[in-house]
Amino acid sequence: MAMKRAATSAIRAFTSSWNPAPPSVFTRGLHASPGSKKIVGVFYNANEYASKNPNFLGCVENALGIREWLESKGHQYIVTADKDGPHSELEKHLPDLHVLISTPFHPAYMTAERIKKAKNLQLLITAGIGSDHIDLKAAADAGLTVAEVTGSNVVSVAEDELMRILILVRNFLPGHHQVISGDWNVAAISYRAYDLEGKTVGTVGAGRIGKLLLQRLKPFGCNLLYHDRLKMDPELENQTGAKYEEDLDTMLPKCDIIVINTPLTEKTKGLFDKERIAKLKKGVLIVNNARGAIMDTQAVVDACSSGHIAGYSGDVWYPQPAPKDHPWRYMPNQAMTPHVSGTTIDAQLRYAAGTKDMLEAYFKGEDFIPQNYIVKDGELAPQYR
Ligand SMILES: NC(=O)c1ccc[n+]([C@@H]2O[C@H](COP(=O)([O-])OP(=O)(O)OC[C@H]3O[C@@H](n4cnc5c(N)ncnc54)[C@H](O)[C@@H]3O)[C@@H](O)[C@H]2O)c1
Repeated sequence: MAMKRAATSAIRAFTSSWNPAPPSVFTRGLHASPGSKKIVGVFYNANEYASKNPNFLGCVENALGIREWLESKGHQYIVTADKDGPHSELEKHLPDLHVLISTPFHPAYMTAERIKKAKNLQLLITAGIGSDHIDLKAAADAGLTVAEVTGSNVVSVAEDELMRILILVRNFLPGHHQVISGDWNVAAISYRAYDLEGKTVGTVGAGRIGKLLLQRLKPFGCNLLYHDRLKMDPELENQTGAKYEEDLDTMLPKCDIIVINTPLTEKTKGLFDKERIAKLKKGVLIVNNARGAIMDTQAVVDACSSGHIAGYSGDVWYPQPAPKDHPWRYMPNQAMTPHVSGTTIDAQLRYAAGTKDMLEAYFKGEDFIPQNYIVKDGELAPQYR
């Protein structure tokens, strides 16, 4: 049992950044045991693209660029894309792995059942941001540490959101499709193409990504609103001109464009259900690069079909990879992509380096930087509680 493996030295090494309860006896022996570790990495396959760029680190083939380093230290490093189902490669390694690294782009879903099977598991690292693929409560109860590379791809996502806003506002995609299919029909595009200037844009969540998006939107001359658990620094509010809306349902009907920038938590799961979507402006545009499950899948399909949502764009789905019959693939007025916004080459270099830093700290028995912890000493980070 996990609790029997608890080691006081490891517990002491984990002073909390958010003052959780006293170190739990459930904490597994993180940082405690020296020696060789079994580390499993779950990434997407790159196949013929793997060798096209030496900095393409986030795939199975290049494995974050840490294989040589890990193996030179005597650790075992297994990397796979085969993550789902009881006969997957990941499932096979659950009983004896110590560390699991996964990315949100190709998430290793760590359910309570899998966590129970992973008796030696101590540390789950998200190479990127967003650890909702892990049952965080089960991880906390089992005394596991969950950490992500906070900040690693926030610029990448904010830039991508700006692009998606413009794609929707200007009704870009139908024009692009016309070019490919040999058509020329200006009217079919321009009857619902607008300027971004003067529109009201609201971000639900103004953390790292939300703030960067507001800064990037400032020069476009929009009315900027934000809703968050926390009011932002007045200096940044002044700089961006964004107004705080304490009540989400007061903000949403004012918005021409809504961008979602909260994590997926128990509070945000299904936040945009049928009732909430019905209260949005008719013709609203929505960009969601946060997590697919923040939306009620069918409610989005229905609202896109009726035109209540005039455009929906994002790169996050549930589950991932999205099955061929996922209804968002086929709904009208969408500009969806696979989960790509946070895995630019620049982002990959940052989250690979951040993962290596955390592994190095783990091997030395040192703490991570406080903002990287999602679960520590049996406690979830505040926004996940
Ligand atoms: N598509 C991608 O590639 C990609 C990449 C990075 C992050 N993300 C997603 O974006 C999310 C946000 O990332 P970030 O770096 O800005 O995180 P962050 O922690 O800096 O910001 C999240 C913000 O959401 C707010 N929040 C949380 N719960 C809330 C609630 N119930 N109501 C209102 N506000 C709430 C927090 O107070 C915080 O300000 C991640 O959790 C992840 O799911 C997606």
